[in-house]
Amino acid sequence: MNRVSFYLPRLGLSALIFCIGSGVILAFYYRPTGNVFRTVEEITTLVPYGWFFRQLHYGTGQAFVILMFLHTMDHLVRRRYRIYPFREWVTLVLSLALCFHTLFTGFILKGDQEGIFAGRIFLNIIETLPVAGRPIGRLFIAPGEGFFFLPYLYHCLFLPILIIYLMRGHIREWLPDPKFILSAGIGLSLYALFVKPGLDIPPEASVPSVSGPWFFQAIQTLLKALPPLLAGLIIPGLFLACLLLLPLGNTGSRALPSKKGIIRTAETALYGLLIIALGAYGLLTLRALIWGP
Ligand code: HEM
Repeated sequence: MNRVSFYLPRLGLSALIFCIGSGVILAFYYRPTGNVFRTVEEITTLVPYGWFFRQLHYGTGQAFVILMFLHTMDHLVRRRYRIYPFREWVTLVLSLALCFHTLFTGFILKGDQEGIFAGRIFLNIIETLPVAGRPIGRLFIAPGEGFFFLPYLYHCLFLPILIIYLMRGHIREWLPDPKFILSAGIGLSLYALFVKPGLDIPPEASVPSVSGPWFFQAIQTLLKALPPLLAGLIIPGLFLACLLLLPLGNTGSRALPSKKGIIRTAETALYGLLIIALGAYGLLTLRALIWGP
């Protein structure tokens, strides 16, 4: 195993430990009903070290998900999906998607204008699904008084439990070597101490433009040019489906040895397409971060 493949998951797990720890502390003070923006401002300014735990939670959450993403990309680039059983690959990819959804719900929980805006866009995208869009959307966010309640439940309970449950077969050691925990703890605490958090925009403030979380900004750009069903559900869904199907090339060539050549060519073409799509998404994200979505 090369160094990168060794360090990425261990540092990721260490970040997760601090993320859950700081999340539990925040959950003591956070209330997902009433004036959520004021509650979050009170955590930042009135709760002892509240600003520190908020920034630590933000940094550790981002670090965990980015490291998990790089870890999955490492598997993809080294084509390890060829040696994994289909089920394990599916679980890995699904957990990564859930990790990004956890970041997304965390972004909503800030309760500021950006959070509310992100939640509304998410709901609008789901509601474009024909027939079942509205009831499915209500499973994630209920507009009105209880807007933050379901994202809160998903973020603090369902998603972390589901991610840990899905990853249980893949992780050999749940507690990484103390040197990883120590370096992640020191590095991320220094981040929380010295890096200024982004401004929380009050819900009623008038601002020229509001943007979603960094990983969603490419979709926000696509939403300006394409219908929401296509940009928000069909394109990301197709990408996810192709990623999930990758290991089937291996299963297929074992089941049909006479068609091995064709199956391998199809697998390589699918792999190439996925790498191009990922590159395009990365460039679109960079463009949106520099010039706005
Ligand atoms: C996979 C695990 C998790 C990730 C990646 C994650 C990530 C995040 C992120 C990025 C935010 C937004 C912070 C900001 O922009 O200020 C957030 C907010 C929040 N998270 Fe988590 N979180 C995780 C687990 C948890 C858990 C287990 C809890 C509680 C038990 C929790 C409680 C909270 C609360 C209360 C907020 C809102 C307060 C705030 O915005 O500072 N999180 N989370």
